[in-house]
Amino acid sequence: MSNILVLPGDGVGPEVVACAIRVLEHLANREGFELAFTYGMVGGACYDRTGCFLTDETLEEAREADAVLFGSEGGPKWDGLELDGPPEARSGLARLRRKLNLFANVRPIRPMKSAIDASTLKPEAIADVDFIILRELCGGIYFGAPRGISRQDDGHRIATDTLTYAEWEIERIAHVAFSLAQRRNSKLVSVDKANVLESSVLWRQIFSDLNEARYPDIDLEHQYVDNAAMQLVRNPRQYDVIVTENLFGDILSDGAAMITGSLGMLPSASLGARPCDGGQFGLYEPVHGSANDIAGQGLANPLGAILSAAMLLEYSLDRSDLAKEIELAVSAALDNGLKTPDMRGRSSSSEVADAVIAAL
Ligand code: IPM
Ligand code: MN
Repeated sequence: MSNILVLPGDGVGPEVVACAIRVLEHLANREGFELAFTYGMVGGACYDRTGCFLTDETLEEAREADAVLFGSEGGPKWDGLELDGPPEARSGLARLRRKLNLFANVRPIRPMKSAIDASTLKPEAIADVDFIILRELCGGIYFGAPRGISRQDDGHRIATDTLTYAEWEIERIAHVAFSLAQRRNSKLVSVDKANVLESSVLWRQIFSDLNEARYPDIDLEHQYVDNAAMQLVRNPRQYDVIVTENLFGDILSDGAAMITGSLGMLPSASLGARPCDGGQFGLYEPVHGSANDIAGQGLANPLGAILSAAMLLEYSLDRSDLAKEIELAVSAALDNGLKTPDMRGRSSSSEVADAVIAAL
């Protein structure tokens, strides 16, 4: 039996997670395996009741689970809180990523044929695009010290963030990147800003060295992040695996999401080093945020969450066969015109989930 900790969170999180769980339960029943779901609090919902965004108990439950299914976190209600300290203190998600050492964030970009018209990019530019953005998730400017807003001697305020990467942090994400590329088409693009940033100079050096010493079979290319942002909309077909540091990955993956038609389509897996029975422990979440403006209306696109559940089956439960089935079922639902408003459709979240389950 696999143990899944479910953290629905805020905004549209609970709605889309409920859809993903229906899909998982359907498959578990059909295939005759057992999934044990435990529910926990995260984000603003948790803050209102406990004064923190993720409790120690929930963190412990996550440590013991085979996988975490996460919805979303945050909303206007909590935006105004004057919180200091590192992101772990301000965000349950950041605390989970950091404390569970989930340093490898996998974001696949693969537009579905019947959703091509939902993209603002031209169909011929995005047809057959299929790549992965691998984002380093535990380091960089998100977590570097010192940070904060302080007052200078002259009375003016000054804000500081620090971008650091240790050699071991770059090496461990590089190994994941090269291995991913080996399982795909052996083409890796490493994105940095080595013309300006020291952390990028080291990043580039380490990737080149590992390419030469350990992964000569991989065709490694370096791109500056500004160029990569342009290439992503100019010719996204050139990519197989993109690897980049935390902040660049955050920005580029939202941009790349539009290749799939909607940010609502994008799933993600955050992986660390801990094995579990079915592969490795991971946290799975749709890339879209809490979208509080449409929360509670049943209009959120559940496909990012459903495809995240597919990644959970693939990486943590060793059922890539079922992951593939979910992808095909999602594609079938879209073929039948079942789309939420973000995809220029008129269906509700649960109608879309029903269609995916029917296709399964
Ligand atoms: C993401 C999100 C988070 C991030 C936010 C919610 C802190 O945008 O997962 O991409 O910046 O990492
Ligand atoms: Mn983001």
